[in-house]
Amino acid sequence: MSKLNLVLFGPPGAGKGTQSTFLIDRYKLVHLSTGDLLRAEIKAESELGVQAKELMDRGELVADHIVIGMIRNAMEDNLHAPGFIFDGFPRTKAQAVALDEMLASKNEPITHMLALEVPEAELVQRLLGRGATSGRSDDRDEGVIRNRIREYEQKTAPLKDHYTAQGKFVAIDGVGSVADITARLVKVIG
Ligand code: AP5
Repeated sequence: MSKLNLVLFGPPGAGKGTQSTFLIDRYKLVHLSTGDLLRAEIKAESELGVQAKELMDRGELVADHIVIGMIRNAMEDNLHAPGFIFDGFPRTKAQAVALDEMLASKNEPITHMLALEVPEAELVQRLLGRGATSGRSDDRDEGVIRNRIREYEQKTAPLKDHYTAQGKFVAIDGVGSVADITARLVKVIG
């Protein structure tokens, strides 16, 4: 049976992390979030973490070779996983091409690229709301939040074309209750 590999796509605050929790549980997938991996490096005060923090605090993307290396290592650590859910990766064309190559070498392609669509005003509201209570420094400042959204629009949103060409792109309405959105995702995944 082929593995289930999902890319959960969408701007900052679209609900990728929230929905991942439910999909991991339902489909027993391994969750690979480059944001979480980078925050673990920051917490460990590694050299990589120090460099990444500066960029993340400004709402800018971390270099491709760093995040690609992290994903490669995490996949090697989970060779027998029933599949992966990629959350916040890929975010650039170079990352998408690298992921295609990594999965092609294992003959385990992406099954679906599920894009959560949420209007910008709601994204800002959600992230400022989380910033009031979470420890995430990139959620506290509206300017940084808007910069993250600009980075998404310029560098990440164009990946829609990459996955549409492969017949894998599916747009999902990301507004509504968390349970309703999970149901929309499950309807596509099966
Ligand atoms: P990352 O950690 O990936 O953050 P992000 O993309 O900004 O996404 P978020 O975690 O903020 O949003 P989400 O879509 O997961 O939404 P969530 O479920 O949390 O990246 C952080 C930084 O790391 C980047 O800026 C970059 O610097 C760097 N980075 C990471 N990956 C990289 C890569 N591949 N390449 C280069 N750099 C990289 O929900 C958000 C909030 O909304 C929560 O409070 C939640 O409770 C709420 N919420 C969720 N669903 C709903 C709903 N249906 N209704 C109302 N509220 C909701």
